Amino acid sequence: MPYRPSKATTGRQAASQPTTGQPATGQPATGNRVSRRGLFLAGAGLVAGAGATEAANLLAGGSPADPARPPSPGEDLMTEHGVLKRLLLGYQAVADQLAAGHTPPAGAITDAAEIIADYIEGFHEGLEEAYVFPRVRDREPALVRTLLTQHDRGRHLTAAISTAASEDLGSAAVRRDLRRYLTLFIGMYAPHEAWEDTVIFPALRTAVPQRTLDELAERFADLQNAQYGDHALAQLLSRVTGVEQQLGIDDLNAVTPPLVYRS
Ligand SMILES: [Fe+2]
Ligand SMILES: [Fe+2]
Repeated sequence: MPYRPSKATTGRQAASQPTTGQPATGQPATGNRVSRRGLFLAGAGLVAGAGATEAANLLAGGSPADPARPPSPGEDLMTEHGVLKRLLLGYQAVADQLAAGHTPPAGAITDAAEIIADYIEGFHEGLEEAYVFPRVRDREPALVRTLLTQHDRGRHLTAAISTAASEDLGSAAVRRDLRRYLTLFIGMYAPHEAWEDTVIFPALRTAVPQRTLDELAERFADLQNAQYGDHALAQLLSRVTGVEQQLGIDDLNAVTPPLVYRS
């Protein structure tokens, strides 16, 4: 089933029936620094500690994950952040082309803005606002207020970006405004999602019991399937790749730097 933008309902609307969950106490992670070698040895220990069959499976690539088991709420939301990061890279490529005096492909901008408006600002932020923020607001009240304000500013900027992209990109004024909107959007959302990844989602894990996390995982998966179909992420990434191809940034290997040596 192809990825389809939502029409009648948005994620914000669909995500408006939070499940219940009781606050749970949690212990912060210790700050012990672990070396890369230590991580490797710990991983080897995990294999050695498993049964012989399990160890063989791990070394062979491991047993396949249960396809019926949805990702945790944090993993799900961070995957969606990954989609946003790739679109931010697209926006940056557009801003760079504008700064260099080139005319970027309008289709790439409108496609990216459409995905962001529907999937990120509609669905993803709908999940955050309906299911995540209410559960961590007591722990991070100022941060949640800032994130909500930024969701609103983001939607205004996306509307401005879409409008500018539909206008004459040969106009210096349109190009200047578009570049400014893109720069503001990128500058806000890169730290926005980083704070959510490192503060809000970890706080959710300690704010509710595992049973509620499992219920949220099921709820998120059900909402995504209902709104976008069974292969939502694959279809979405296909569209993101289309944006990247239009902008010439679809080759990940192209950004691998050469080995550098200090003389
Ligand atoms: Fe957010
Ligand atoms: Fe987010």
